[in-house]
Amino acid sequence: MRQHVMPPLVLDRAGGSSLAAQLYEQLRSALDSGALRPGERMPSSRVLAQHLAVSRIVVTDVYQRLTAEGRLEGQHGSGTFVARQPVPATPVRPQPEGSPEPEVIDLRPGTPWVAGYDQAAWRRAWRAAGDLPPAARPDPYGAPDLRAHLAEHLRRSRAVPVRAEHLMVTRGTGHGLDLLVATVLEPGGRVGVEDPGYAKARNVLAARGARVVPVPVDEYGVITDALPDDLALLYTTPAHQYPLGGRLPPARRRALADWARDTGGLLVEDDYDAEFRYDVAPLPTLFSQAPEHVVLLGTLSKSLSPDLGLGWLIATPALLSRIAARRYELSDRPPGAVQRAVATLMANGDMDRHLHRMRREYARRRAMIVGLLGDRVRGEAAGLHVMVELPGELVDQVVTRAAGHGILLDTIERHYAATPLSGVPPVGSPQSGAPRVGPPPGRSPVSGLSSVSSPPLVSSPPLVSSPPLAGGLPIAGEPRRHGLVIGYGAADLDQIERGCRILRDLIQG
Ligand SMILES: Cc1ncc(COP(=O)(O)O)c(C=O)c1O
Repeated sequence: MRQHVMPPLVLDRAGGSSLAAQLYEQLRSALDSGALRPGERMPSSRVLAQHLAVSRIVVTDVYQRLTAEGRLEGQHGSGTFVARQPVPATPVRPQPEGSPEPEVIDLRPGTPWVAGYDQAAWRRAWRAAGDLPPAARPDPYGAPDLRAHLAEHLRRSRAVPVRAEHLMVTRGTGHGLDLLVATVLEPGGRVGVEDPGYAKARNVLAARGARVVPVPVDEYGVITDALPDDLALLYTTPAHQYPLGGRLPPARRRALADWARDTGGLLVEDDYDAEFRYDVAPLPTLFSQAPEHVVLLGTLSKSLSPDLGLGWLIATPALLSRIAARRYELSDRPPGAVQRAVATLMANGDMDRHLHRMRREYARRRAMIVGLLGDRVRGEAAGLHVMVELPGELVDQVVTRAAGHGILLDTIERHYAATPLSGVPPVGSPQSGAPRVGPPPGRSPVSGLSSVSSPPLVSSPPLVSSPPLAGGLPIAGEPRRHGLVIGYGAADLDQIERGCRILRDLIQG
């Protein structure tokens, strides 16, 4: 039986009002303020009467009154409880008939469709997780069986030539990036980030003291001939550029690998969205092409749910061991129960079945958007979002009018780094004063990167907080794009249809 809660009650026997009135007022105020929570067990009338040294009838009268008001509820034979449906503070006015709650249609990116999970499989996984005792010493690389399952999954689904020794379990992409940067980046190291790009990646980098350098992007992805040669790291989303939606073509992938080999910079490949692809052949990961120069980050945030906080980081065993050592120093651990549950989902084949269902569902949603918004849609070959390019002057108007219909939208504008690009010469261009030449022989080609292949790390950068673009120079060259980034994980298919019909009318004016 659950323990009761004893509310703090003080009765003033010399006071003007009766003991019953005082008890009623104090209990009512504790109930209405939330000090006593729905479902909590109240002390029995006998216990409370003894505790307050009052007659039991005083307590039973007050309990009856509060029960009649709906603040308490009696459960036959088991006692008195705080009502599960608390009394509303102000009476709720009934909605006049014919005026239903306005519908909200969330067409913003970044949210997966979670309602389609298999509840039975989910329960099985968590039961299995609960069957094992908690680990006394969590492995900083992650649970071996989960690493093996993830490696096998990536080998089959992404043709990534990866073994468990290359893979560390993380809490997601952002966390993987943070661990990597905490391990390899020296304070003030320059890190290229696609622009427009993933703001959270910029934030993680800036919080570790990196100088974030925006690198321009076009409809294919990151523009490789504009890459500076003094970057310690380059963060990129080649499978489905976030947010413009390009899939990086093979020639640019080769150019990135060459850049990394020539400059010594490390490529951080966010393999986000790679699991969802429509009518196009898979492209190999950068990691498969240049494993010595790439760290690949993956996540279950889109394919399952961000609520799990589970992802992976793939790197050479030497770099991985440095990251594991750093992780240990930071007292950062992968969550054991989550790993065990996910390993069970993978071992049972439930994860594959889930992905299959999700692919089918997302393909329907995407087809609906493309069908309704037609040739304005870009970046629709993969992932869970598309871009709808619009004339700049139309964007605000469409967003505001759509909001009037309950439609929530995101704009491309929001994904650009804060500093405007126009007028700033490219780093390494003749005007910028920075020579665009390779490093002298024998010297580390990039500053800010502590040796990637060397064994254990000696010192690491302190946690420094700075604004995302502190010290970073944007690279000019690509005009800003305007339009909407439409995600199709949050709303259901019917809502997407309604929302896109309204959008189409708003865009056509
Ligand atoms: C570009 C990109 N990468 C990764 C993620 C997922 O990150 P995490 O695994 O930290 O949830 C997102 C989520 O929206 C994203 O937009």
